[in-house]
Amino acid sequence: MTTAGQPRKLRVGIIISGGGSNMAALVAATKRAEFPAEAVLVLSNRADAGGLAKATAAGVPAVVISHKGFPDRERFEMALHAELVRHGVELVCLAGFMRLLTPWFIGQWKNRMINIHPSLLPAYPGLHTHARALRDGVKLAGCTVHFVREEMDTGPVVAQAAVPVLAGDTPDGLAARVLAAEHRLYPHALDLVASGRTRIVTREDGGEQVEILGEAAPPAAMIWPRTA
Ligand code: GRF
Repeated sequence: MTTAGQPRKLRVGIIISGGGSNMAALVAATKRAEFPAEAVLVLSNRADAGGLAKATAAGVPAVVISHKGFPDRERFEMALHAELVRHGVELVCLAGFMRLLTPWFIGQWKNRMINIHPSLLPAYPGLHTHARALRDGVKLAGCTVHFVREEMDTGPVVAQAAVPVLAGDTPDGLAARVLAAEHRLYPHALDLVASGRTRIVTREDGGEQVEILGEAAPPAAMIWPRTA
């Protein structure tokens, strides 16, 4: 508790490379009085990231650390890490950050770094997820928030949203509907993590999964296409 009697909020740093619509959704959620996290820093590796202006407009310090200014990935990441530490960041949210991270950086933030990916992982890690899903003819696409592990787009899943694939969908059309779902999913997942309702457990087979404490009653299965 703070002196004012309010529960202390988790200090979150958000790392972006582009438009930052997920970042903006996270920042908007953190403005709610009862939300358990506050956004204390937005970091971008690109000076032309559209998200920088959005962060500044929302009153969150926005800092550019260009990867081009460093001789190698490690030194770039050491600068990122130093900036996060300087701002007292306790949890990192990757939100459209388009650089691969080294095991060193991932180790520094193990179980304290989450990412959003526009597919129902472990299906479609990597790029061009929507085009690949359409090519496979799947009926449900979606998005995933997960803790970050060394292999790209892996790690214990916090939450997922399923998005129906529609007849005649294009990759862009599907991407837009998945992005709208991302904007709902990421704040929800951050709420779960920051409020301490997630616990990462290692199963007997060595795999990891996230248990949600006080999980609400599930909705009925989403069936798509619908029956009459
Ligand atoms: C999102 O689809 C995110 O899942 C992916 O990159 C996109 C970033 O969009 N990793 P934005 O920068 O949050 O608008």
